[in-house]
Amino acid sequence: RTVSLIGVPTDVGAGARGASMGPEALRVAGLAEVLQAQGLRVHDRGNLAGPSNPWQPPENGYRHFEAVKAWNEALHGAVFDELQQARLPVVLGGDHCLGLGSISAVARHCRASGKKLRVLWLDAHADFNTAELTPSGNIHGMPVALLCGLGPAALTGIGGTTPAVRPDQIRQIGIRSVDPGEKRLVHEHGLEVFDMRYIDEMGMRHTMEQALLGVDDNTHLHVSFDVDFLDPEVAPGVGTTVRGGPTDREAQLCMEMIADTGRLASLDVMELNPALDVRNRTAEVAVDLIESLFGKSTLMRKTAPRA
Ligand code: ARG
Ligand code: MN
Ligand code: MN
Ligand code: MN
Repeated sequence: RTVSLIGVPTDVGAGARGASMGPEALRVAGLAEVLQAQGLRVHDRGNLAGPSNPWQPPENGYRHFEAVKAWNEALHGAVFDELQQARLPVVLGGDHCLGLGSISAVARHCRASGKKLRVLWLDAHADFNTAELTPSGNIHGMPVALLCGLGPAALTGIGGTTPAVRPDQIRQIGIRSVDPGEKRLVHEHGLEVFDMRYIDEMGMRHTMEQALLGVDDNTHLHVSFDVDFLDPEVAPGVGTTVRGGPTDREAQLCMEMIADTGRLASLDVMELNPALDVRNRTAEVAVDLIESLFGKSTLMRKTAPRA
């Protein structure tokens, strides 16, 4: 299996500068080497190019609309190409507005190949805002809504089909910060959300069993990993920390249970912000988790011991 690393060095969708340095921090933390050690071939495609961050206030509810569109169009093309060549794209963000370009490409690939799509959205945030509801105008708070067709055609139409995905193809995990209007919209659209209260009460194992229910041999599993999913004590290097997130152990189990399905077919690693990190620790944590996601286990295992 060949993995393609696609660096997307931008923070145009975020409210803090620095996620543009994420791709290089993940490389420095040894991402390619770790994947190779799991027996994968790794092609590092380098970084995509796009507009610089104009650092302007929002207009009509969106900050940097045109720049966000340009980066996502470029990413859509890159991810779609890799998938069509049967490679597994790993998107190195960049802020989470890039989930739009990445997942719209995955959805298009699934339509073209007759695969079932399941998106696991690992995040502290629902990222389900619209221009009308957003408290910030930052488009990294909107990609899930855009993928579900909520927003202007210039963004929702990037994959050629609107909506790119249906809410029933998405499972959100680790959520603990949702804005008031956003909360209503999440319910209205019936998103399945495993929030921190659910994880506290039911445990990560049961949470992942539920989130992976229905994944079968014909499923394309996409993981969109916003590094702020993790508790800030574990992962300080992100722009929008929210306390009370999964511990390192909970996150490891989450990744291991995804690996056990054998269906992981594309990955986003988003919102890592080296300008806010401590000696690249958050990048190293992310790389450790990705290692588990691609099948690293402490000892050899037969089938996972879960009845
Ligand atoms: N809900 C907030 C907003 O819309 C924060 C979004 C944070 N999103 C992220 N991908 N880190 O501004
Ligand atoms: Mn495929
Ligand atoms: Mn987030
Ligand atoms: Mn996010």
